[in-house]
Amino acid sequence: MLWQIAIACLLIYLIRNYWLKSNFLEIAKLPGPPRLPLVGCAFRFIGHSQSELFKIVTDFPKEYGNRVCIKVFNRYILHLYNPKDIEIILTSTKNITKNRPYVFMEPWLGTGLLLSTGAKWHKRRKILTPAFHFDILKNFARVFEEEGRAMVRDLHERLQRGERTLNVMPFISDYTLYTICETAMGTRLNSENNASKAQYKESVLGIGLIVMNRLSRFWLHSDLIFYLSSMGKKFKKLLEQNFAFTDRVIEERRKNWAETKKEETSSGKRRMALLDLLLDAESKGEIDMEGIREEVNTFMFEGHDTTAMALTFGLMLLADHEDIQENIYEECKSIFGDSTRTANTSDLAEMKYLEAVIKEILRLYPSVPIIGRMVTEEFKLDDITIPEGTEVVVHFYNLQRREDLFPEPELFKPERFLNGDKMHFTYVPFSAGPRNCIGQRFAMQEMKYMLSEIIRHFKLKSIVKGYRPKITMDLVLRACEPVNIEFSAR
Ligand code: HEM
Repeated sequence: MLWQIAIACLLIYLIRNYWLKSNFLEIAKLPGPPRLPLVGCAFRFIGHSQSELFKIVTDFPKEYGNRVCIKVFNRYILHLYNPKDIEIILTSTKNITKNRPYVFMEPWLGTGLLLSTGAKWHKRRKILTPAFHFDILKNFARVFEEEGRAMVRDLHERLQRGERTLNVMPFISDYTLYTICETAMGTRLNSENNASKAQYKESVLGIGLIVMNRLSRFWLHSDLIFYLSSMGKKFKKLLEQNFAFTDRVIEERRKNWAETKKEETSSGKRRMALLDLLLDAESKGEIDMEGIREEVNTFMFEGHDTTAMALTFGLMLLADHEDIQENIYEECKSIFGDSTRTANTSDLAEMKYLEAVIKEILRLYPSVPIIGRMVTEEFKLDDITIPEGTEVVVHFYNLQRREDLFPEPELFKPERFLNGDKMHFTYVPFSAGPRNCIGQRFAMQEMKYMLSEIIRHFKLKSIVKGYRPKITMDLVLRACEPVNIEFSAR
């Protein structure tokens, strides 16, 4: 009996290998780092820090061109750096499934909107899209205004205490977290929540680091081994810390929701924020508590960390470019005159120059620099067949720094975005196609509020002119070192 099982296994292995080999023949011919028999390039990525790994993959096109094939054991991973190729994969309505590395985020984000696929993804996207409708965003103006004012007050108080230099990342991410909690979740954070807020932010950083470390250590890909390791145990603790915070946010809203719903229905206003939509869907039996939790975790993370990093890199670039700060200031003056009132939605629409500045920040520092797909339906890139089972990795970071598409790509030049040219798949910081960023308009609005408030009240100066921190990618693009900026009141 045993030998029969052994022969059956061997046969399955040979057939599978033959199938794999014949299907992947074309893509295996694409250039890429040298492959060893069986293991492929698995050892190429071991023993490097996260920021070294990011540099390795962003340097691939210099050596191998704009289509690079990496084989790791039996995985074929195709890295794309070309606008035409990127357009094909992003606009596909069939290939919408995320690739393997996203699986390591599932214990945290479940199969919420970011990670789900197929019917579940369609259903959730339909439930959640109204939460980002223009009218809803207009209703968030009050929160953006209040947070903007509070941030300016906080900065003035720091200056009065003699703290002119600020490490901007932790500072800014407090405000983006307050904003997502109050807008999307309908829950206000205040000083009482300081400890749990700090723990939440710490857990997001820790989870990101572990997910990325696990990715490059193939022996930790098995759940069994991972959860026995010290890294796996730490991961579990961080998840508990993270869920404690998000569960509290859900419970807080649940307590007030019935009351708010009654008030809004009687006053004829129905402005359902994201968590309200989820609670409403729960009351209709369309989603359960587990589903709510995975969406809240997804949006809390995506909704605060991405904008915090873009604003951090943005302030760093502005601190180095006084002329660009002055242009923003002048634009604000032309809108507000000498009034100190905060911006409203129509003021934001007039901030064309600031919009170009934000686009240029996201060109150089896209918060999500790389994304991935699992090919579920074979497709063609010119004459090459990309078979089912291939993983495709799209490099926005490289794409947006290509010299042929953006002359002097390393320079911070918002003018690139002032002439209204359509940048067809050469500039896609929010991705594109069916799985684009659902929070794009929210993010642009929030970033406009925060940057305009800062520049209207303060002048920024870099500590060391032209200094650029080493960057790394975990779940978002991050600076490895603190980004310190000197503030002075205008
Ligand atoms: C500067 C800010 C932001 C950038 C650069 C950004 C970028 C992106 C990108 C590139 C994707 C595609 C990810 C992938 O295919 O794996 C994405 C998806 C997503 N983003 Fe954003 N994002 C930003 C802000 C936000 C905000 C503020 C929210 C929520 C309020 C948000 C919620 C989401 C969600 C839920 C998805 C998954 C959408 C789906 O698959 O249907 N993002 N974002």
